[in-house]
Amino acid sequence: MADKQIRIGIIGSGGIAGAHANAYKQMPDVALVAVADVIPGKAAEFIQRQGLPSAQAFDDHLRLLDLDLDGVSVCTPNVAHHRTAVDALHAGKNVLVEKPMAVTLEQGVEMARAAKRAGRILTIGFQPRYDPNMQMIKDIVRSGQLGKVYYAETGGGRRRGAPGGTFIRKDLAGSGAIADIGCYALDMVLDALDHPRPLTVSAYTSNYFGTSPKYHPDWARFEVEDFGVALVRLEGGITLNFKVSWAMHMDSLGATMFLGTDAGLKVGPAGSGAWDGTISSCTLYHDLLGHHTASPIPLQNHNVRIFYEKVRAFVVAIQEGKPAPIPGEQILRNQAIIDGILRSSAEGREVAIEIPEI
Ligand SMILES: NC(=O)c1ccc[n+]([C@@H]2O[C@H](COP(=O)([O-])OP(=O)(O)OC[C@H]3O[C@@H](n4cnc5c(N)ncnc54)[C@H](O)[C@@H]3O)[C@@H](O)[C@H]2O)c1
Repeated sequence: MADKQIRIGIIGSGGIAGAHANAYKQMPDVALVAVADVIPGKAAEFIQRQGLPSAQAFDDHLRLLDLDLDGVSVCTPNVAHHRTAVDALHAGKNVLVEKPMAVTLEQGVEMARAAKRAGRILTIGFQPRYDPNMQMIKDIVRSGQLGKVYYAETGGGRRRGAPGGTFIRKDLAGSGAIADIGCYALDMVLDALDHPRPLTVSAYTSNYFGTSPKYHPDWARFEVEDFGVALVRLEGGITLNFKVSWAMHMDSLGATMFLGTDAGLKVGPAGSGAWDGTISSCTLYHDLLGHHTASPIPLQNHNVRIFYEKVRAFVVAIQEGKPAPIPGEQILRNQAIIDGILRSSAEGREVAIEIPEI
């Protein structure tokens, strides 16, 4: 443990900020010293609720960034990730940004460039990366035992799970189910495949449930998509079939699968459909002429506190001068697919994806 406490601030004091604060409070080598929220008084209430009497409250993140801080957690709605993270990096702070990285690819690119210019950490908060079963899936896919992987299919589906609040407003969230839960499924597959570059996207989105008084209490203010499907061409001749839903008349959108020339891997979805890092099964398939096998792979005990681990990895990277645990530059490919889906859906045609150099 470092002899000096790491000084941390939180920007945005809504729901998920509580999980960040809980994690930091368990670390004796961290001092949570400041919280900012644009709603006047909200940061002070948060500080009181969290029992942080010596922390300072601000209603402008720029004033928080004037403090001597080692890092900040960005816990604002998606649309403010970009501005707050770029300002924090310019101010020389290391940054942990909640998922999804941003709303547009352009914003993500600016964030990654700001991190590079500042020589600071920009890490994106995908806690399922710390689930040992996710690491096992990645190890299997990257080991080469599937042969050449030519197809992957993934997604996440809730039956009746459209949120409300800031998540359904276009100006605050940018996108609905695709960015909110779809980014997790994309991260699982892209990470297992070692982050191939996305080339094109052909996508469709809809919001029949969110905008219906029968299905959503806040239907009149529902502005984002609650369903999306996309065919994504990835470099290396891999096709990705991606689908995600916040509400549907179906129990699940099915398993995640990787088809390779030597074997296939099927990953059972989480029970609730929410992509929270838990999976229900993992099976390896071999189908040769006249000989088929399906080998279940035992799942590891899911007792790792994945949210704590993601926050801890950020702190340790700061203390030890390590690179970002989940680098913003890597997550640009995830963001580029989300961006491509929204563009393709709006334009009603396949679109090309180009990610500028950072
Ligand atoms: N990793 C996870 O498991 C997980 C779970 C839920 C949400 N999230 C992500 O966390 C983010 C926040 O979600 P939430 O549920 O906490 O939302 P929320 O609406 O409850 O809270 C966001 C807070 O940020 C404040 N805010 C807005 N703009 C700001 C700015 N410029 N500066 C300072 N404060 C600002 C709002 O006033 C609000 O209090 C979203 O990006 C969401 O996708 C991640």
